[in-house]
Amino acid sequence: MESIEKLLEKPSIFKDRRVLSPHFIPSELPYREEHIKKILRNLAVVLRGEKPRNIFIYGKTGTGKTSTIKHIIRRLEEFKQTKGMENIKMFYLNSRMMYNSRYRILTKVMKSYYPELEKSGFGLTYVYEKLVEFLEEGNHLVLTIDEIDVVKDLDDLVYTITRVNDEVEKGSLSVVGISNKLSFKQNLDPRSRSSLFEEELVFPPYNASQLKKILMQRVEQGFVKGVVSEGAISLIAAITAQENGDARYALKLLLKAGEEGEEEGRVEEKHVKKAIESVEHDLAEEAIKTLPINQQILLYSIAKMTLANKKMTTLTNDGNYFFSGDVYKYYTKVCKELEKKPKSSRWYREYINELENLGLISSIFTGKGIRGHTRLIKLGISPEGVIKSIEKRLKRE
Ligand SMILES: Nc1ncnc2c1ncn2[C@@H]1O[C@H](COP(=O)(O)OP(=O)(O)OP(=O)(O)O)[C@@H](O)[C@H]1O
Ligand SMILES: [Mg+2]
Repeated sequence: MESIEKLLEKPSIFKDRRVLSPHFIPSELPYREEHIKKILRNLAVVLRGEKPRNIFIYGKTGTGKTSTIKHIIRRLEEFKQTKGMENIKMFYLNSRMMYNSRYRILTKVMKSYYPELEKSGFGLTYVYEKLVEFLEEGNHLVLTIDEIDVVKDLDDLVYTITRVNDEVEKGSLSVVGISNKLSFKQNLDPRSRSSLFEEELVFPPYNASQLKKILMQRVEQGFVKGVVSEGAISLIAAITAQENGDARYALKLLLKAGEEGEEEGRVEEKHVKKAIESVEHDLAEEAIKTLPINQQILLYSIAKMTLANKKMTTLTNDGNYFFSGDVYKYYTKVCKELEKKPKSSRWYREYINELENLGLISSIFTGKGIRGHTRLIKLGISPEGVIKSIEKRLKRE
């Protein structure tokens, strides 16, 4: 065993771990320069005392939306500080963090300018009056609402924003809305839609070479020179691009791979492979944790079938797809072994749909099978991880 002294002597392969954290905002955002320019050009008119157009930013998860807007806010803040433009206000909030209604959003914003509102119990009308007063003082507010799709009464919010701009003589309120979903747009009133989407920007997912550059930037800042092999970076980039181009996932893999390789003093492809397993396992754990017990047993059954199938030497060219009926049969068997009452087949179909929505399984419908029109089910994550995680839970029961 290594002595503690020895351990401490060993130089870490990390130079600055902070830059690998998901909260770190890099000063350069490669492949977002054009987006930044567009947004800045639109928002910068506020510095002349004009109202910027509302912007809506859409892009899949991990495409740099939040980082980009925070980067922009930082730059505008710096600029206005040097010019002493106190009446320009940049406010960022994430709706998922409790601010999921018009009232909560407006109160949150106004509280930061009128501390007396901290005492709770003010109604919407009062908060609205404060907003009018605030703008009438000549303030121009740019409000960023991240994950705006979770706002329950978005039509009302957009209506209020439009109305307040009409009502005030001085000042203005503009919105930057951000979301990784688009479905909510359909449910919006056409009027609020056109108001919220005055400017629209799409952030595309990153491809492998883009991810490589993003990773290289972090490797340079976060690791000691030369400890991370190019092969490791390429592998992370390739795997991530193949999955969904989510830079957050790539950075998670990089950090994990760094931890895996720390002991050996370098990060290579084998450490990336270990990191993938461990990250996948964490993600599965997260998802499984929230499932009701019967659904866990169902997932467990599919994992068991997948594992058994792997070991079989018979012809299985279906990539581990199972007939839905077979899965149900196996599930009821597992329930009996565990002395649990299996759910009816109607519930079973519902469960399968939910598991698919969570990405834990995937399924296809086929009309060509020997049994006619049928559903084929396949596990979406590693069976070993699922079995380990659920067995642990079942034992605790
Ligand atoms: N162009 C880029 N250059 C460097 N790092 C980036 C870039 N784009 C994204 N990242 C990094 O990837 C991670 C995810 O980015 P971010 O949080 O901005 O994504 P998002 O689009 O807001 O995702 P979500 O929809 O899930 O909220 C962050 O750690 C961020 O620093
Ligand atoms: Mg985000």
